[in-house]
Amino acid sequence: MKVLVIGSGGREHALCWKIAKSKLCDKLYSAPGNGGISETAELVDIKADDITGLLNFAKEKEIGLTVVGPEAALVAGIVDKFESEGLKIFGPSKSCALIEGSKVFSKELMKRRGIPTADFKVFGNAGEALKYIAVNHAPLVVKADGLCAGKGVLVCDGISSAKDAVNEMMVKRSFGDAANKIIIEECLIGEEASIIVVSDGKNVVPLASSQDHKRVFDGDKGPNTGGMGAYSPAPVVTAAVFKKIMDKVISPMIRGMAEEGKPYKGILYAGIMLTKEGPKVLEFNARFGDPETQAIMPRLKSDLVDLMMRSIEGRLENYSLDWDPRPCVSIVAASGGYPGKYEKGIEIKGLDLVKEMKDVVVFHAGTRSGKRATDGSSTFLTNGGRVLNVTALGPDIKDAIDNCYNALGKISFDRMHYRRDIGSRAVGNVK
Ligand code: AMP
Ligand code: GLY
Repeated sequence: MKVLVIGSGGREHALCWKIAKSKLCDKLYSAPGNGGISETAELVDIKADDITGLLNFAKEKEIGLTVVGPEAALVAGIVDKFESEGLKIFGPSKSCALIEGSKVFSKELMKRRGIPTADFKVFGNAGEALKYIAVNHAPLVVKADGLCAGKGVLVCDGISSAKDAVNEMMVKRSFGDAANKIIIEECLIGEEASIIVVSDGKNVVPLASSQDHKRVFDGDKGPNTGGMGAYSPAPVVTAAVFKKIMDKVISPMIRGMAEEGKPYKGILYAGIMLTKEGPKVLEFNARFGDPETQAIMPRLKSDLVDLMMRSIEGRLENYSLDWDPRPCVSIVAASGGYPGKYEKGIEIKGLDLVKEMKDVVVFHAGTRSGKRATDGSSTFLTNGGRVLNVTALGPDIKDAIDNCYNALGKISFDRMHYRRDIGSRAVGNVK
């Protein structure tokens, strides 16, 4: 069948790389894709949130499966639109994607369903929120209700920074309508892990656990980013912890959505804090994690297209996935200045040196095909903040990390930067 992958990041490159290996896929398109994706899929110049454009393309090309990478189109209802036209698309409906589109919806659902999460309060105006902060203790976490491209959560160490966060969101309106409502919640302490599962509305198939690294600098210092690296599995997610997360978080969520008339299909991503009192949900997402997917796909032995079709068609009962037991690490090479301002169009060197390296794969994020200034020959140029996800498997986590940094050492572009400690928390944490 023909498959269309929507999006243009490292996550979508990893999905395309895996889908291209499927027996069920004989033609792969990506809209809009990136430089690396162009090596496995035909790029289509349609933006990831242009639902009408994507729908017309899928109808014209008779796409048998559409896979949605980023959240915006899901929250805007792309799945409902495609399904109403008889097209198969992997992901949750608009009403289900609200678990990511509205943090207020998600937290209230968790409360109704007894799913463990941080204590919280919802506010519709700055005055009430500021009063609440004044009589509470820091640290506090202030969250905008709607989508903010990963920037709508502020972990505030002091009362004054919590007040600043409320003013930023509700008075200065830096996040626009996404912060018409805000949540102020208890700050949880512990180790984070990402649990990503696939559901067909009733049955659940978990993917391997993973952990990402949000801060820009080593030692989890500096501002939050879209993610500077990830590894899978997350050793903190022991079999016992995993069972607890399935029993207390994932199962009640899938059952709850079905009972409330919104059977949840597609990816359910739970960001979990492993606290002293047990796992608690930080957030739900309606899509694959980025960069977690880049560390998970190389370990998946089963056919991804088959998994997605089973989710769409309600055939996940008694189904499970085969995994490569070896750990996988994925490190982001970012543009100088990221997550702030950065330049684009810089030549990336050394990609050919890692192409044949065993158990190494480079997923592109912000890249595009271009020409070398020197002789006009073809090359890849930087085209975003996060440029590459250098990814490697190894017999153990330490080897996977070494393989990854060894490959990364062969790649360069002007002002490239990356974290030197990706995966280090997992070393020595293997239970
Ligand atoms: P989110 O975008 O919702 O994943 O939040 C971004 C990050 O903020 C999470 O990965 C956590 O590191 C942090 N965070 C969110 N909520 C809390 C909380 N209640 N307590 C502590 N940290 C949090
Ligand atoms: N890696 C975090 C996310 O995808 O939201």
